[in-house]
Amino acid sequence: MATLLNNASAPYFFLILSFTTIILSFSPSHSSDPDPLQDFCVADLNSAILVNGFPCKPASKVNSKDFISYVLAKEGNTSNVFRSAITNANVQAFPGLNTQGISMNRVDFAPGGIFPPHSHPRSTEAGVVIIGEVLVGLVSSSNVLYSNVVKAGEMFVIPRGLVHFILNKGHGKALTISAFNSQGQVSSVVPNILFGSKPTIPNEVLTKTFQVSESVIKSIKSKFAS
Ligand SMILES: *[C@@H]1O[C@H](CO)[C@@H](O)[C@H](O)[C@H]1NC(C)=O
Repeated sequence: MATLLNNASAPYFFLILSFTTIILSFSPSHSSDPDPLQDFCVADLNSAILVNGFPCKPASKVNSKDFISYVLAKEGNTSNVFRSAITNANVQAFPGLNTQGISMNRVDFAPGGIFPPHSHPRSTEAGVVIIGEVLVGLVSSSNVLYSNVVKAGEMFVIPRGLVHFILNKGHGKALTISAFNSQGQVSSVVPNILFGSKPTIPNEVLTKTFQVSESVIKSIKSKFAS
């Protein structure tokens, strides 16, 4: 250190550069959720302690059943306006995922069903079509639409945070299974966020945003009120 301090500024520059490189290469922002510090930390969903994630069940109470989940085995009920059903296998549904930085979901589609525009704020999505064929579209932050018809056995990827949709294009049912690099993956569904929030976004914000009359906004809001 002493020699470095006595020299000109060039060594400082390299010192700072190498520290920056080290910090960047270890930064958790390069992946998604932070890395675990132990073999497992099966979530105690009932704990009153609040941390970034969930506290662990005592290891003495952990058993084989903590490492298996049946949530994705069941077909979702698509009897709804979108004719689709999202089943999440995230940490809330599968506590064994706690601290592991991954989760999954399944989306069932009746014929013509849609998973409306949405984003996953904390995770990239890697999906595979299991049954049928779907139109998968995503829009970049430069407003460019990228879309593909994806068939059974084929994969798609949705970069983290980008708005995307999935539409069943086949004649029968469709099923997709996706993996996420976040244990607590959730979907921010655009129409529900804009028109179904609680409390609701003031009509003035929405009429000015979409440049339509208040009656149009009220009509759309009535479809998302729950
Ligand atoms: C599916 O959901 C609809 C509407 O909520 C309901 O009427 C129906 O009983 C459900 N079907 C099954 C099999 O749970």
